[in-house]
Amino acid sequence: MTVGLTTRTIAGDAHAAADAARCLEDGGLVAFPTETVYGLGADATNADAVARLYQAKGRPSFNPLIAHVESVAAALDIAVFDGLSLRLANAFWPGPLTLVLRKTTHCPVAELATAGLDTIAVRVPAHPTARDILRTLGKPVVAPSANISGHVSPTTAAHVESDLAGRIDLIVDGGPVAVGVESTIISCLGEPMLLRPGGLPRAAIEAVLGKTLLNVTDDADVSTPHPLAPGMLEQHYAPRTPLRLNATRIEAGEAVLAFGKSIPAGLDQASIVLNLSERGDPVEAAANLFGHLRALDAKGASGIAAMTVPMNGLGEAINDRLRRAAVPATSIA
Ligand code: TXA
Ligand code: MG
Repeated sequence: MTVGLTTRTIAGDAHAAADAARCLEDGGLVAFPTETVYGLGADATNADAVARLYQAKGRPSFNPLIAHVESVAAALDIAVFDGLSLRLANAFWPGPLTLVLRKTTHCPVAELATAGLDTIAVRVPAHPTARDILRTLGKPVVAPSANISGHVSPTTAAHVESDLAGRIDLIVDGGPVAVGVESTIISCLGEPMLLRPGGLPRAAIEAVLGKTLLNVTDDADVSTPHPLAPGMLEQHYAPRTPLRLNATRIEAGEAVLAFGKSIPAGLDQASIVLNLSERGDPVEAAANLFGHLRALDAKGASGIAAMTVPMNGLGEAINDRLRRAAVPATSIA
């Protein structure tokens, strides 16, 4: 492990991009804000830096990374687009959408970053700090969420520090992120398929495509050595405290992740209650999700009881993350 580094934190101001780009150019690991969650960046073309990134996160190296670029034009250099994927890129980039495409023959991204696949996940983030860094560096940056592998994704610089201080070189603090869940991942290798629900709702994508997105479960073949969304087989987004879903009755001492105005039986026995969105807004709930999970986890309660969150809009992504967070720790590979 790369524990023992001095991790600097700097403000995400006008000077940050130059500092961050220099550090990346030198093979360093830089955490920076995107509109979805904080990412841990490495120069995608530097295999040593990518190897250090996997090590700092404790991430299995068969789980490929998303290459972040500054523009659609830069994306065309590393991935092969067809009509539909280009339509999605033009409609939603910069923004919380990742496209899985074939690599171009001259793609400069290190093999390790794509785990030896001939495909690549690409996105153009919308956060101004992320865009400044990408523009200044002028190369693709691979960036998984800036947390220890399997842990809850970070939505503030403080979350990044608590997971990765001593393991990475630089943290750019751009304040809390806007979206709060990771990007939506669409495979465009055949018929467009939703690999991971995320910060861009399914309905918005289907409206642009003019057709329904396949689900990864529809025809995913998990027996292949390279499943369609390798990372989605892992337990992810996990608090240490056991989490149960769709709670309608609260047990004494439980920590409660509430949603909306309804009051479950036994709520007065809860050790702590945090509401994702009292007004029942899935966008507000997504922004609060990982921060609330971390805060509830820190209370040392016997369990976390999560109330039902409806599936509309970002609700699909929220429910996906909650379901993964509820997988018992004993089933972690
Ligand atoms: O919002 C986000 O997407 C954030 C920010 C930092 O941009 N990044 C993020 O990265 O969530 P990460 O590494 O936590 O998730 C990337 C997911 C993994 O599940 C990985 O397996 C999948 O993308 N992935 C990457 N390359 C792939 C490929 N070629 N084919 C299929 N899935 C791929
Ligand atoms: Mg992640």
